[in-house]
Amino acid sequence: MAANNPGVPHFSPVLGEVGTKLPDSLMLTGFWYRALPSDQVGRGSLHKAMLLEIPLVIGRDSDGRAFALQDACPHRGMPLHCGQFDGRQVECGYHGWKFDAQTGQCRVIPSLTADQNLKIDRIYAGNFACEERDSFIWVFVPDPAPVGAGFTRREEPAFAAPQLPTFSNQYKTAYLTAELPCTVDHGIIGLMDPAHGPFVHQAWWWRTRHSIHEKKKHFEPIPNGFRMSAHKPSSNSAPYKLLRLLANADSTTTTIDFVLPNLRLETIRAGKYWFSSLTTVTPITRNHCRIDVVACWNIFRWIPFAPSLLKFVFAKFVEQDRRTMELQSEGLKSNPHLMLIDDADRPAKWYFALKAAHLAAKQSGTEMKHPISGPTTLSWRS
Ligand code: FES
Ligand SMILES: [Fe+2]
Repeated sequence: MAANNPGVPHFSPVLGEVGTKLPDSLMLTGFWYRALPSDQVGRGSLHKAMLLEIPLVIGRDSDGRAFALQDACPHRGMPLHCGQFDGRQVECGYHGWKFDAQTGQCRVIPSLTADQNLKIDRIYAGNFACEERDSFIWVFVPDPAPVGAGFTRREEPAFAAPQLPTFSNQYKTAYLTAELPCTVDHGIIGLMDPAHGPFVHQAWWWRTRHSIHEKKKHFEPIPNGFRMSAHKPSSNSAPYKLLRLLANADSTTTTIDFVLPNLRLETIRAGKYWFSSLTTVTPITRNHCRIDVVACWNIFRWIPFAPSLLKFVFAKFVEQDRRTMELQSEGLKSNPHLMLIDDADRPAKWYFALKAAHLAAKQSGTEMKHPISGPTTLSWRS
């Protein structure tokens, strides 16, 4: 199954111990992706973005609603971000065709004379569903339209964009974003890799090589993904120690979910205190992705510099991961043989298995057969 699929690695996702190359990652369509941070897109401005090799122009209309159009005019392909925007319609800079920003529908073709009755409302610029959630503009990337479909009104997605769970009315939030020079697959398996912590993220307040110890974690299948079941957080890190001091030790639990195509949701709860983060690794091109982390919390709300401190710590982590993947991409240039080992790389194997199962189900038009049969325990040292 996986071997025939160009986007999925050659090794068997569940059984394969020794892998060959990870070819360029297949990017999954039919999902919501984070396109740009909300605060980068002001009213009346146009911004370039790219998702899954689709060039987009993102903007915000005069009502404050975000929109996303394909960044290529349906007339002769001029990038629309080079045009004008009056808060309602985007005007192409080449021949002045105007498109409704929210629907992409053509409104004006200046070259038409009064007796030329071209039905311009049947012309659409490529347009995408757009939602704002937790500091980001999300864009739904649909499955490719059948050949010859042309530019038409879009179909609305059947499900809403993902959202961070919050557990109280008042909380703080912050986001971080970093470009990664690797395929989305390497970005994602790096995200769920438990064994790199003591080597990549060494710090006295987090973990050191000497703090490595054996861990056992319980996992269970969830729709389109898997969950590291609620557990007490790692004992070898200072922030968690602090948290346990603040709240009742026994009440502190962490849950980590991975859900296709690219979502990692972590929730920490300690009595009335909580922290949740949603990390995504978004394919920009087949060799390039971006990691975005949004966190919300009500812990340390009364400490004046907590958001900056937390952001500093997160930024440090993300920068360490980014740097590692930059170096890794050097090594990957020669297409070396790679391997995934048990149990530390089992989440990575599950990711490939989920991806393969998702694609197989889509191809056959049947329901996805979940590759993880039931609850299971993994052990590793980290
Ligand atoms: S290319 Fe856009 S109006 Fe002609
Ligand atoms: Fe990391």
